[in-house]
Amino acid sequence: MKIAILPGDGIGTEIMAEAVKVLRVLDLKFETETAPVGGAAYETAGHPLPESTLALAKAADAVLFGAVGDWKYDKLERALRPEQAILGLRKHLGLFANFRPAICYEQLTHASSLKPELVAGLDILIIRELTGDIYFGQPRGRRTAVDGHFPGAEEGFDTMRYSRPEIERIAHVAFQAARKRSKRLTSVDKANVLETSQLWKDVMTQVHAQYPDVELDHMYVDNAAMQLVKAPKKFDVVVTGNMFGDILSDEAAMLTGSIGMLPSASLDKHNKGLYEPSHGSAPDIAGKGIANPLATILSAAMMLKFSLNQPEAAARIEAAVQSVLAQGLRTADIWSEGTRKVSTREMGDAVVAAITKTITG
Ligand code: IPM
Ligand code: MG
Repeated sequence: MKIAILPGDGIGTEIMAEAVKVLRVLDLKFETETAPVGGAAYETAGHPLPESTLALAKAADAVLFGAVGDWKYDKLERALRPEQAILGLRKHLGLFANFRPAICYEQLTHASSLKPELVAGLDILIIRELTGDIYFGQPRGRRTAVDGHFPGAEEGFDTMRYSRPEIERIAHVAFQAARKRSKRLTSVDKANVLETSQLWKDVMTQVHAQYPDVELDHMYVDNAAMQLVKAPKKFDVVVTGNMFGDILSDEAAMLTGSIGMLPSASLDKHNKGLYEPSHGSAPDIAGKGIANPLATILSAAMMLKFSLNQPEAAARIEAAVQSVLAQGLRTADIWSEGTRKVSTREMGDAVVAAITKTITG
């Protein structure tokens, strides 16, 4: 097994070091190779996704990704900005299925901005289509308008589009995921306005015929945004397009009060995947040793489960994370009165210690 390690920018390096430490203590047979990505790669190789990094990601059995981005690159032309690295990896590796769980950990219920009773026990899975939609649709660009409200004015334009097979494949992923959970799936669209969404809704309904044991409902994205803060526990599995999924998954993550705890997986059709924390590169706290490494550590667990066929090792990591929370250890982002504030490294060490304890009994 070969794991490509792409730490990236900001807190990426610090949190990745802890995740790699945790992987090593599990005593599995795997090789790792590290490569620069994002702003770090732009600095050293002149491009956020250098050929060599892409080649490594393609050759590896799985990719563990930190985070990319820094305000200092905001003025670069779009093709050279750090975000292009993650978009390029998704596109070139065909990572169309993005799993974003939003779980409210029992000990962290009070970290949410919602009332504890609304989020206690929350466990939602957002499945976001990741290689289509307005993110990748052509044509796009800037030009002089020939029609519209201001002919002759400069305009920017993008294209929202989905083909039937693109919707079908994410529908199957979502129905199968729902089958493994509570058998309830909500498909989110804007079919009251958008043609793309009407096709999305039609295809979801058609694919549903193959999964009669799963309950499907459709919800408009504006209503879904509202229901997520009104009664989030009504959701179980949510499937939606790239753009809506980007927005709703951030909203859902924040409900848990601890985006620093949430992992994610982006899978291709063979379950090869890229695993990354749901939070970003947080350049404001980079290098201070206060970032929460648990989302990256839990991403490594997801990687072991989904791509590397090591469910027991994954379970050991997850149990160790539960154990450090139960011990009252907290990084600054999840700290509250009566718990012990620890650094990034101390948190990683504590997870390692908890795993070692289960290994040696
Ligand atoms: C995410 C991020 C990315 C996205 C950015 C960094 C391109 O917000 O993974 O949700 O919009 O998909
Ligand atoms: Mg996002």
